[in-house]
Amino acid sequence: MRTPVIAGNWKLFKTSGEASELIKGLIPLVKDTTGVEIVVAPVFTVLDRVAQLTSGSAIKLSAQDCFWEEEGAFTGEISPKMLRDAGCSHVIIGHSERRQYFGETDETVNKKTKAAIAAGLTAIVCIGETLKEREDGIMNDVLMRQVSKGLEGLASFSNVIVAYEPVWAIGTGKTASDGQAQDAHKFIRQVIMDKFGNATAESTRILYGGSVKPENVKGLMEQPDIDGALVGGASLKADSFAAIVNFGK
Ligand code: PGA
Repeated sequence: MRTPVIAGNWKLFKTSGEASELIKGLIPLVKDTTGVEIVVAPVFTVLDRVAQLTSGSAIKLSAQDCFWEEEGAFTGEISPKMLRDAGCSHVIIGHSERRQYFGETDETVNKKTKAAIAAGLTAIVCIGETLKEREDGIMNDVLMRQVSKGLEGLASFSNVIVAYEPVWAIGTGKTASDGQAQDAHKFIRQVIMDKFGNATAESTRILYGGSVKPENVKGLMEQPDIDGALVGGASLKADSFAAIVNFGK
């Protein structure tokens, strides 16, 4: 039984006042929700504030990235240990925006994922093809490479969540159809099975991301291999994020 995860990726949005308002609006809307793991990923500077506001609620805290070293002369970086200290239980790794704009590679994703797990965080590892890769017919090769290299040599998979986010569906309003998403998720689960075994494939949550909204979440969540959603734009408002969290109601 894989518990669904609904995670909100706030990206580069929300000052501390705005973040407080969002969390204060969200808490009452999800307080009776059961059977769903709820995660929010604010910017680093408001983690502490959001940690205080969510304490005692079921909402878990994630960062949007981390470095792989624990400490040292690495100006501007932040370590998994520091994220734990700030109240995080989760961290997003390898988001396509980081791959696209900040030089993230499968190798750095792998190092960060190992470091996150070693520090006791749950890593939400993002993968996904670009439109060109899909059109060129190499989507499955890309997904296979991202899974096998990004997740290679992990000590354990129990703290790993995979997020499939087709790059062409992120922030564009174009969601993959339920069928397209299910096909990709099934393929990813098969790759995990081939590389890391049956038990790991059965237990690993695979989230869909890319223009998830209250209107399309239900159809996606009905797919057998979709175990949740990583939500960008629609996570920035309490009512739309709560409607996604409460997809089953
Ligand atoms: P979106 O972003 O929901 O705004 O498409 C998803 C993501 O990038 O995680």
